[in-house]
Amino acid sequence: MERICEPEVMDGEEQAKVYAHADFAEENQGFVNQFLAYYPEVEEGTVLDLGCGPADIPIRLLRSRPALHVVGVDASGPMLHWAHEAVRQAGMHDRIRLLCGRFQDCRLEQPADAVISNSLVHHVPNPLQFWYAVKTLARPGAPVLIMDLLRPDIPEEARELVERYAANEPEQLQHDFYHSLLSAFTEDEVAAHLAEMNASRLLIDVPDDRHWIVSGHV
Ligand SMILES: C[S@@+](CC[C@H](N)C(=O)[O-])C[C@H]1O[C@@H](n2cnc3c(N)ncnc32)[C@H](O)[C@@H]1O
Repeated sequence: MERICEPEVMDGEEQAKVYAHADFAEENQGFVNQFLAYYPEVEEGTVLDLGCGPADIPIRLLRSRPALHVVGVDASGPMLHWAHEAVRQAGMHDRIRLLCGRFQDCRLEQPADAVISNSLVHHVPNPLQFWYAVKTLARPGAPVLIMDLLRPDIPEEARELVERYAANEPEQLQHDFYHSLLSAFTEDEVAAHLAEMNASRLLIDVPDDRHWIVSGHV
């Protein structure tokens, strides 16, 4: 099926609140564990998190790497409200800087030492803008870990995935998950985007029935 793009920024108050209070512990810790396993050498410096949402991933990452800092970028004011709250509760305001704005407009004083992003790419109308930002905001050779949803072949498969993984979640979350799946990219599309950007050191993998993950160095 063709991609049906969902709204770019999650700036609804209720939408952000439901997302920030949902339990993504397993998925988010899994993402962090992959980063730790792939890049044991990244102990210091600044990690850029594009579309950081409520900042659960930065907080989990910094618990395991006490000398790292994170810059989190998100265009949603309501989402960043919950991110600030979580960072304050974690006592990490001196290690996590949150920037409210679109990543397309993001400028850093220093290039990032690593770039991460989970579940942002399917929001972006033009995905080449995302890969361009990864390349230009990171220092040359920086490690990268990007994960997002895979678009199923037919809408019925998306419905089945929502049923399988989110049946007990609030209706707003089920709605967003379904539309995110329809808005996601296929493995072939992501590979084509990487090729178009000459990102030959970034490789795509499909770890399960609903995600792709790109890792490597820019
Ligand atoms: C599905 S959430 C993922 C949040 C977080 N990465 C996580 O894994 O929990 C996607 C986030 O990307 C943000 N976003 C969408 N388009 C954006 C853009 N162009 N620039 C910055 N943030 C954006 C949304 O506002 C939302 O908070």
